[in-house]
Amino acid sequence: MVTSVLPRVESLASSGIQSIPKEYIRPQEELTSIGNVFEEEKKEEGPQVPTIDLTEIESEDKEVQERCRQELKKAAMEWGVMHLVNHGISEELMDRVRKVGQKFFELPVEEKEKYANDQSSGNVQGYGSKLANNASGQLEWEDYFFHLIFPEDKRDLSIWPKIPSEYTEVTSEYARQLRGLASKILSALSICLGLEEGRLEKEVGGVEELLLQLKINYYPKCPQPELALGVEAHTDISALTFILHNMVPGLQLFYQGKWVTAKCVPNSIIMHIGDTIEILSNGKFKSILHRGLVNKEKVRISWAVFCEPPKDKIILKPLPETVSETEPPLFPPRTFAQHIEHKLFRKTQDNLSNSN
Ligand code: OGA
Ligand code: NI
Repeated sequence: MVTSVLPRVESLASSGIQSIPKEYIRPQEELTSIGNVFEEEKKEEGPQVPTIDLTEIESEDKEVQERCRQELKKAAMEWGVMHLVNHGISEELMDRVRKVGQKFFELPVEEKEKYANDQSSGNVQGYGSKLANNASGQLEWEDYFFHLIFPEDKRDLSIWPKIPSEYTEVTSEYARQLRGLASKILSALSICLGLEEGRLEKEVGGVEELLLQLKINYYPKCPQPELALGVEAHTDISALTFILHNMVPGLQLFYQGKWVTAKCVPNSIIMHIGDTIEILSNGKFKSILHRGLVNKEKVRISWAVFCEPPKDKIILKPLPETVSETEPPLFPPRTFAQHIEHKLFRKTQDNLSNSN
């Protein structure tokens, strides 16, 4: 058992080191694809992450509403990720969410350590950094704060940041509003699949069981950004993920065999289709591979809210309506917990074969 004695990435970053510890250096094959994120963000040529305007998603005019849905459907099928604009969550509330999270991370590390999670005993909520989970000891250039924010009766408010004092109020309001947005999106996606409006919502657990988990990702400045990643390439296991950030670029999407850098779109919320919806839709909606770059100049912070089905209560598999003779089921039945287990296993196998 390898126990980690590595400090928080924030402490490492502020210690003045000019070269990063080897655990943060990506394997050779991966390094060739990591560039300067500010240069990458400027590139105008090639495919770009779609922007979906949700103004008309609940329009009284059925034709107008249908047009909006079709845009969403296209983005969900081709990309599985998009910038949502006019999503109904106020600029002011988003600013307050960013403000309270940033204030928490501005506390001294010792202060934040009071909220440290304990992954070895299964307490995943709280302040943390990735633990090396394989022989290579590979780490990511970030610290985070992770906690469940909805439904309200499943929260553990005792572990939420107490500083700044508005943290709980602001984050709770954001959670309620995002939950509403998630419902709207799930309705629209259901109709896009030819299902009844409430179907996907029900299939992922409904109001009682769909869990909203907030992960505030804190990416310190990195002295060798071309050698590290903030988050390594992955797909989200969630049904949907909603992301806010502090307007510093970093997110990249693996689209048609190339890494595409997401531009920073003011007042937008980035939305990912996660593995759960990919499975339920039998692959019609995509869960895209993505990763996060870091940089030398600016701290990047993102607020990712993962909307997840319950771990064991629901068996996820392609809905019968999405399967036909010419479209066989692409995914075997698994609970959410089994899906996570399966991904971990696959990753371990990959690592074993790569080191051979
Ligand atoms: C994640 C993630 C990207 C980002 O937390 O799952 O993909 O922009 N984050 O921070
Ligand atoms: Ni992700």
